[in-house]
Formats: sequence, structure tokens, C-alpha cells
Amino acid sequence: MVIFLGKSVTETCFNVSGQTAIVTGASSGLGMLYAETLADLGANIVIAARRYDRLVKFADELTKKYAVKVVPVETDVTKEEQVIRMVQTAIDNFGSLEILVNNAGVASVLPSVSMPVKIGKKWLTPT
Ligand SMILES: NC(=O)c1ccc[n+]([C@@H]2O[C@H](COP(=O)([O-])OP(=O)(O)OC[C@H]3O[C@@H](n4cnc5c(N)ncnc54)[C@H](OP(=O)(O)O)[C@@H]3O)[C@@H](O)[C@H]2O)c1
Repeated sequence: MVIFLGKSVTETCFNVSGQTAIVTGASSGLGMLYAETLADLGANIVIAARRYDRLVKFADELTKKYAVKVVPVETDVTKEEQVIRMVQTAIDNFGSLEILVNNAGVASVLPSVSMPVKIGKKWLTPT
């Protein structure tokens, strides 16, 4: 661990305690990791994705484990009105918004050259 004037780098450079964060794509994978890290650092969070049931369960887990508030919002980031509602939910619940983790997306385990054209087209076409 690197120490800065008696404090860790995390405490010095990433003091997000009491701040408000939105994490998109927080129903699985990296988004859950980002949300839990922010909760551990003391940020209140709006977690967003399309699978609302997973968000509700995860929000419950985080609020039981950390002393923060977590609000789940069903959001498809390709729908402008849903993104506006997501941001408004953060402001309405917490009064400000300092952090956006713009993580929602799709990941593939295939090398790009092996990706079927059908899947590539789906990724590039907004729904
Ligand atoms: N894992 C890697 O090695 C890697 C490498 C480079 C980049 N990335 C990027 O990192 C991000 C997360 O990857 P991951 O591995 O954690 O993927 P993942 O487990 O498939 O998670 C993707 C997340 O994005 C959400 N999502 C997808 N489309 C959405 C939409 N239209 N609106 C709202 N939420 C949406 C999914 O939730 P719902 O289905 O519930 O909506 C899910 O929570 C992706 O953007 C990916 O491209 C990942």
C-alpha cells in the first residue's frame, strides 16, 4: 500500500464518502464490482440495468453490508427517456450527482475476427 502524508492513496485520491454515483450495467459482471467498490468507499449509488429483479436483490445486499443508500432503477441506456429518469432519480434521492460509471454494454469472449457478422450488427444497431 502506498502512503501519502499518513493516509492511503485510496483515502487521499478517492475520497467519495457521501458522494452520489450512478453505475450503469450493475446487474452483472464488472458493474457489480464497481458498485460494491463505491459502496465500500461510502458513496450512495443508483444502480441501473434492464434486469430490475437482479438490481433489487443486489441493492438489498449492498445496503445490508455497507452504511450507504442504494437505489435500483430499471434502465435501458439506449432509451433517452429512461436515461433521463435514471439521472433524475439520483438527484431526487441524494440531491446531487458526482460520479458516473458508464459501464453498460456487451462483452464477448470471442476474438473480433471470429465474431459472427450477425452479432456484430446487433451490437452496432441501437434498439
Ligand atoms: N469483461 C471484460 O473483460 C471487458 C473488457 C473490455 C470491456 N468491457 C466492457 O465492460 C462492460 C461490462 O462488461 P462485463 O464483462 O461486466 O459484461 P456483462 O457481465 O455482460 O455485463 C453487462 C452489463 O451491461 C448491462 N447492459 C447491457 N445492455 C444494456 C442496456 N441497453 N441498457 C442498460 N444496461 C445494459 C447488463 O445488464 P442488463 O442485461 O440487465 O441490462 C449488464 O449489467 C461492457 O461495456 C464491456 O464491453 C469488458
